[in-house]
Amino acid sequence: RYPVICIDGPSGAGKGTVTWRLAQSLGYQLLDSGALYRIVGLKAFEAGLVSADAKRPIDEEALLQLTQSLDIVFVPNNESGRVDILVNGEAVGEQVRNETIGGYASQIAVFPKVRQALLELQQNMATRSGLVADGRDMGTVVFPDADVKVFLTASATARAERRVAQLLRAGQTADFEAILNTIKARDERDENRTTAPSKPAEDALVLDSSMLDADTVYELVKKQCQD
Ligand code: CDP
Repeated sequence: RYPVICIDGPSGAGKGTVTWRLAQSLGYQLLDSGALYRIVGLKAFEAGLVSADAKRPIDEEALLQLTQSLDIVFVPNNESGRVDILVNGEAVGEQVRNETIGGYASQIAVFPKVRQALLELQQNMATRSGLVADGRDMGTVVFPDADVKVFLTASATARAERRVAQLLRAGQTADFEAILNTIKARDERDENRTTAPSKPAEDALVLDSSMLDADTVYELVKKQCQD
């Protein structure tokens, strides 16, 4: 099997940048597992299975069927520095990255059957080349025998500040308090679910990036991969 590097952690801790840079420098594929949950979240919302306020109960069987009907393919895009996603042959735009869809993703991510349905697709990615995997449960569930495991975290405030800066750079508006609240709500759901809760693997290096810039985080993680 090929080498696997897992970068797990909460929203806005800086996983995206580190995983992209690592994948580029090592010549590995990138698995953006969050995108899988985001796509299912978006499609479930479009199908009326998920409500915007997260209050309506979700039909797990219908959600499972919907998940199984999706053919998801990742294509690296060197221009954008991200991975393009095709769902049933159609490109999914940057819209899946927004916070609203992140909320839908965390609603559907609590269901064990959905997680199970996405497991094989994720594990198969390590059968073709080295892999840098970004998510919540890469080191604990999907690749428990990975070569390197890092849990990248940061205070909720630091993460909300980064999201604000990111949105402003993209020419969008950003409300700090609202973003902080959604980050906290998503953390709460991700950390307290019974299946694959977001937490460091026992053998993971836990790195708090609150006071570190992106270059320093990258160097620390890179070093871990060389050791
Ligand atoms: O980019 P960000 O960290 O904000 O979110 P993401 O990694 O795209 O993940 C979106 C949501 O999908 C998370 O809040 C989790 O609820 C879920 N997720 C998961 O359950 N397991 C993963 N391996 C990745 C994401």
